[in-house]
Amino acid sequence: MELKEKLMTQFTNIFKETSDAMQLYFAPGRINLIGEHTDYNGGHVFPCAITLGTYAIARPRTDHNLRFYSLNFEEQGIIETTLSDLTYTPAHNWANYPKGVLWTFMQEGYSITHGMDILYYGNIPNGAGLSSSASIEVLTAYIARDIFNLDFDMRNAALMCQDSENHYNGVKCGIMDQFAIAMGKKNYAIYLDTATLEYKYVPLNLENHTLVIMNTNKQRKLGESKYNERRAECETALKTLQTVTDIQSLGELSLSDFNRYSSVLKDDILIKRARHAVSENVRTAEAVTVLEHNDLIKFGELMTASHVSLRDDYKVTGMELDTLVSTALKQPGVLGARMTGAGFGGCAIALVKADCIDDFIANTGREYLETIGYSADFYIADIGNGPCKL
Ligand code: GLA
Repeated sequence: MELKEKLMTQFTNIFKETSDAMQLYFAPGRINLIGEHTDYNGGHVFPCAITLGTYAIARPRTDHNLRFYSLNFEEQGIIETTLSDLTYTPAHNWANYPKGVLWTFMQEGYSITHGMDILYYGNIPNGAGLSSSASIEVLTAYIARDIFNLDFDMRNAALMCQDSENHYNGVKCGIMDQFAIAMGKKNYAIYLDTATLEYKYVPLNLENHTLVIMNTNKQRKLGESKYNERRAECETALKTLQTVTDIQSLGELSLSDFNRYSSVLKDDILIKRARHAVSENVRTAEAVTVLEHNDLIKFGELMTASHVSLRDDYKVTGMELDTLVSTALKQPGVLGARMTGAGFGGCAIALVKADCIDDFIANTGREYLETIGYSADFYIADIGNGPCKL
């Protein structure tokens, strides 16, 4: 395998060591079909793993040292630490993700008995909302489980990776990304209830249509602070709603219940934020039902309605995502389009008739460039499996 040999050679050149124990691993990225900003509101999500992802060559060491290197951040060089010093270090940059995972495992009482050298290479564009960081986390968890024979399943791995991102990296993300990556299944999407973690795999039968990923190429600079701000707004709305109805999360409300109680919120912004969390959860359940009945037209409409709600009520889209989605929707053969992931830049997805794809990409790309001033990128989404050893 060409990639394997290339990465093995890089590993040897960079770490100046070779060993029979070197292994190649992979973890995917993810797209979310629908159910956005619902996972920290006790709602449903409907993501799938994609074949773009992160590769890593890892080898165990006999001492306690840890060395990390990413071909995506070569300017950072080798990042070194030891098992006894896993404190968060800003200068360690991206390597705080793998460090955080190992730190979390040790907090949970798992026995990590020696160090590792790991070389990472991702073909997911960074900061594009396809979960490159969760991919690194879950990949590290999978590698550590393999090397140290740790006894947990991938569902628990997802939870520990989320915990690590929340408490070690300080991003208050929900469970969606880590779960989708850890539990991905080729040609299936995962319908997950984030309140109970019950899930089912739904076959992604798109007939003669294809999911196209559209990257705005806008880096999400303010993303994390705005993300935490939305989450806080939803928490405030929930607390106020709890004074009039007995609920644990916004995900428990139907739209009619929400409309009955929403006046208690008073603040128009809180009403909009909570309305998105509720309406998006309802749309997600409906999207799964229509997909199971092969109603792609309705599925596309729900995708587009999701974008509108994220744009108008939740305010997490922005000019680049809105331009990409509205341009996409004007093209022949398009059933629906929406942003995917946290928003504020990053990627959108469109459901496009397979024989229209070339024109779709050319026309949407041209109009986006004319309006925004720089290019978008387009990728075909292949729905793939969760982590594996190659
Ligand atoms: C990011 C977070 C997820 C989820 C999405 C929005 O990807 O990591 O937990 O909240 O945003 O749906």
